[in-house]
Amino acid sequence: MERVRFINFPKILDERGNLSVVENGAALPFEIAGCAWLYDLRDGEKWQNKHLGGKDELIIALSGGFEITVNDGTDSKSFYLNRPYRALYVPKGLQWQMGNFTTNSVVFVLSAEKVANDGESAADGSFGNKLVPLNEAPCLQGHITIVENGKSSPFNVKRVYYLYDVPAGESRGAHAHKALKQLVIAVSGSFNITLDDGTEKHLYTLNRPGEALEVGPGMWRTLDGFSSGAICLVLASEVYTAEDYIRDYDEFLEYKKQKQI
Ligand code: TYD
Repeated sequence: MERVRFINFPKILDERGNLSVVENGAALPFEIAGCAWLYDLRDGEKWQNKHLGGKDELIIALSGGFEITVNDGTDSKSFYLNRPYRALYVPKGLQWQMGNFTTNSVVFVLSAEKVANDGESAADGSFGNKLVPLNEAPCLQGHITIVENGKSSPFNVKRVYYLYDVPAGESRGAHAHKALKQLVIAVSGSFNITLDDGTEKHLYTLNRPGEALEVGPGMWRTLDGFSSGAICLVLASEVYTAEDYIRDYDEFLEYKKQKQI
């Protein structure tokens, strides 16, 4: 039980909204193997899900707040989570139960082991710029969506970051990546994301936690139109490197031109 602890992750404050990041290495005590998020959680319900708990896990309140009670077989201890940059680390072998969810709670769980074992198809490695349904399951208490490395995910997730508290009218993310693959998800509220390959632009509106926009490398992407309470969750194929960014649009067009030669 002593090993259960809070871990603070970076909170990168910006007038265009806040960003936090959790990635392999750094402060994370295990490598990411799977992740899951719980939402539409009903008042008065408790979450005891057979897919979750009992593994090395990191639990984050992406939105709202809730109570989590951890049990080691003899003893139990309760913790309260309500900030997206403050996570609870629960080591393997301990079970937990969640409850007391505030309205619009979104719980995010990063796991060191695969979360579910019930026959989803393996990832085929295909990747485009498209909206894809994720592995969403309704249950009594709300909804759960699970993404697992090498299984339901089209790439191995090594980093997750999320944008929150974005003020009205702000836009984010006018940049491209050279190699990074990403799954972009509106786990709360809604926002628009425009993908530009240098010739054509396409606008997507994201507003459901059970679908993701696949964003491949070499796409200029801009996020705007954030609703109040919107949370943009991004699952990324690589840990953060500044060198992978192209931040200047003319440089991006030049990069695309070079790629075509
Ligand atoms: P950035 O990706 O530039 O967001 P935007 O394009 O919306 O401005 O990230 C903002 C800042 O956060 C930037 O200084 C880099 C830092 N950052 C990290 O340190 N790690 C990360 O994983 C991400 C996504 C950003």
